[in-house]
Amino acid sequence: MLAIIGGSGLTQLATLDLIRREVVRTPYGEPSGALTFGKLCEKPVVFLARHGYGHTIAPHRVNYQANLWALHNAKVDAIISVASVGGIRADLCPGTLVVPDQIIDYTWGRKSTFHESSDEPVVHIDFTEPYDDGIRQRILRAGAAAGEKVFDGGVYAATQGPRLETAAEINRLERDGADVVGMTGMPEAALARELGIPYAAINVVANYAAGRANSTNRICFDEIDLVLREAMGRVRKVLDHICEA
Ligand code: HPA
Repeated sequence: MLAIIGGSGLTQLATLDLIRREVVRTPYGEPSGALTFGKLCEKPVVFLARHGYGHTIAPHRVNYQANLWALHNAKVDAIISVASVGGIRADLCPGTLVVPDQIIDYTWGRKSTFHESSDEPVVHIDFTEPYDDGIRQRILRAGAAAGEKVFDGGVYAATQGPRLETAAEINRLERDGADVVGMTGMPEAALARELGIPYAAINVVANYAAGRANSTNRICFDEIDLVLREAMGRVRKVLDHICEA
């Protein structure tokens, strides 16, 4: 069963044929909301809204451990994260869909491992390739089948939020090699790896990152809403094709 974690702009999957909702308790506390089980193009899918169904949980307050544990407990065999991002690279303009292939983590103070107990041996995971390439290719094939342009590859910078970045911070991220910037990619991807669940992401560029290509030099939230509303329609199309394949 495929799991979809929806971010800003995707708190529901209207195309999902709903079967049931399940409130899951975990040893790590409460997930962002009930797991929504349903079918997408006749295939079983479970959906979880990362920020809660009312979009009330800020990126630094998401219980990533509980979310990932709940999906693991539901025996999902893959996770696709949908997450909005700011575009740093000039060609990644608002509305662009990107399947990133690398991560740089700038977050802090988040519970980023399931192995926190001092009673157990230290656990290290290999994270050279943070996203599962099989799932990445599935998304890219589905994008092509859906006739939607999806960028293959990019470096995702995970920032702490909830504020957006300064222009100087974006310049630094660019020097570091980042192409897009978001607030939720970590520790989600690392926790999925710890649980052995193949994980990849569809990033939706909601805005030019701070200080980029904007005459007012401000980020306009009304524009972000409009961009996300349109782009999530295309994301749903790609998700349908993933399930159909
Ligand atoms: N920065 C960080 N996260 C984001 C942005 C951004 O500009 N846009 C959407 N998520």
